[in-house]
Amino acid sequence: MRNLIDKLAEKNNLSDEELKYLIENISDEDLDYLNKTARKKADEIYGKKVFVRGLIEFTNYCKNNCYYCGIRAENKNAERYRLCEEEILNCCKQGYELGFRTFVLQGGEDMYYSDDMICDIVKKIHKEYPDCAITLSIGERDENAYKRFFDAGAARFLLRHETADKEHYSKLHPDNMSFENRMKCLETLKKIGYQTGCGFMVGSPYQTTDCLVKDLRFIKNFEPAMVGIGPYLSHKHTPFCDKENGSVRLTLMLLSIIRLMLPEVLLPATTALGTAKSDGREKGILAGANVVMPNLSPVSVRKKYSLYDNKICTGEESAQCKFCLSNRMKSIGYEVVTSRGDNIKFVKGDK
Ligand code: 5AD
Ligand code: FES
Repeated sequence: MRNLIDKLAEKNNLSDEELKYLIENISDEDLDYLNKTARKKADEIYGKKVFVRGLIEFTNYCKNNCYYCGIRAENKNAERYRLCEEEILNCCKQGYELGFRTFVLQGGEDMYYSDDMICDIVKKIHKEYPDCAITLSIGERDENAYKRFFDAGAARFLLRHETADKEHYSKLHPDNMSFENRMKCLETLKKIGYQTGCGFMVGSPYQTTDCLVKDLRFIKNFEPAMVGIGPYLSHKHTPFCDKENGSVRLTLMLLSIIRLMLPEVLLPATTALGTAKSDGREKGILAGANVVMPNLSPVSVRKKYSLYDNKICTGEESAQCKFCLSNRMKSIGYEVVTSRGDNIKFVKGDK
């Protein structure tokens, strides 16, 4: 097993069979070695630093009905909200004052925000905070829209692929959502020039090791600037309410494998990981992650952006989260840095 881990660290790759063997057979002791090897790799590239991104969850309306997600359209229990342009800009202002130089605008697929509106919001943020990177995480739109957002000043886009296995995709999503379109969107984003992020949930219902191997292969080939992964966590008002949560152990294993396959990748220790285990994000960093994404949304709406049950940080002000995270990182010997934090392989212009 150690040979395999060393080979992964050296070649930044393994065959599908080797990946499957590793995932299914690694002992706790060897997992510890894998996590440490991945952390060493991240230290070599990014040092003892963790990047922060300010997350603004600006709408929980969504036209989709993903079976796992708490803000799916058919969840009539969800209390819906939208932030107006001014509220979004206020979040940025607060974030800027706290030192954040990256803003992530995330929301459900909410067509209330037309392409024009998104462009306006991005342009205003870009004009007011030209030294900040703007990331969009607003799901599937057409190529023209993606181009316009890019030209307006958005340099990064997060769109998790959710699963690289078409069969599995159809078990997580209703028929009106398409695996092909998801993958096409990702290709388009990359072609336009975004620093693109993909990702998936660990332990989502019906996921097999073969699905995970496909995810890893897809990620390796796609070469994203960022990869977001976190454990699947159930939400009581979804069709998957009775499904088991994903495991923290497997998430930490996959974070390390991804770090070793794509050494420069930006890899967040997600809120889902922090929800699954109280020191989950710290463990994520120690397994090779190098990004944390504290919430900048107004406290009044935080509980409503509920993708899964028991989400952390829903009662805290932005400043509290920043302070809390800095301390958590300090406790494991890491320093939070608020710079733009570009993937060193993908720095483009001054956008
Ligand atoms: N558990 C964990 N992650 C989830 N997401 C959506 N619902 C859940 C859930 N129940 C993830 C999806 C989505 C991202 C914004 O959040 O991967 O792309
Ligand atoms: Fe939000 Fe700790 S990061 S309370």
